[in-house]
Amino acid sequence: MNKILITLAALALTLTACCQNNKKEMKTLVAYFSATGTTEAVAKDLAEVTGGTLYEIKPEVKYTAADLDWRDKASRSSVEMQDKSSRPAIVKDLKDADSYDVVYLGFPVWWYTAPTIINTFLEAYGFEGKTVIFFATSGGSSIDKANKDFAEAYPAIHWKAGKTLNGASKADIKAWVDGLK
Ligand SMILES: Cc1cc2nc3c(=O)[nH]c(=O)nc-3n(C[C@H](O)[C@H](O)[C@H](O)COP(=O)(O)O)c2cc1C
Repeated sequence: MNKILITLAALALTLTACCQNNKKEMKTLVAYFSATGTTEAVAKDLAEVTGGTLYEIKPEVKYTAADLDWRDKASRSSVEMQDKSSRPAIVKDLKDADSYDVVYLGFPVWWYTAPTIINTFLEAYGFEGKTVIFFATSGGSSIDKANKDFAEAYPAIHWKAGKTLNGASKADIKAWVDGLK
């Protein structure tokens, strides 16, 4: 009888070890571009809520206030956003990009969509087969156009519809993240 109990206990231990090893932790990245700090603040809260690694997408050349003047057709942001093939250079220092399963990718809405520096980032690291979820801040525009444009342009990525998180509290962000699962 004792022998049977010991054998059963050993079997239970082996099964537990086996199944714990097979359960892989989902690794999360919270990457963001922010020209004036608004998206950065949301990204920090999102990283806390998800337990993800916070990473800033840094342009090689920082945007000045003049660069961001959307009223000026000749400003850097206007010129970049008029040319959908523009790819503003980034500092390429994200380590182990391939190790992440889920990527939250944040930006300010520019001209109703994502700044083309987001294309630079996606093309630099690929993320094929990974889950990518946009988040953004804006003056009121939605993120719908970016969701649609990017899902079409990068079909190898597993996209989940993103959201504008204007003025979102940490509780709002948590409710959104929980709803994605
Ligand atoms: C070049 C440029 C274009 C913008 N276009 C839009 C837009 O189309 N719709 C909108 O609601 N807000 C627009 N905004 C406002 C930003 O999305 C908003 O201020 C955002 O929160 C800034 O985020 P950041 O501080 O992280 O850069 C634009 C801002 C800039 C600089």
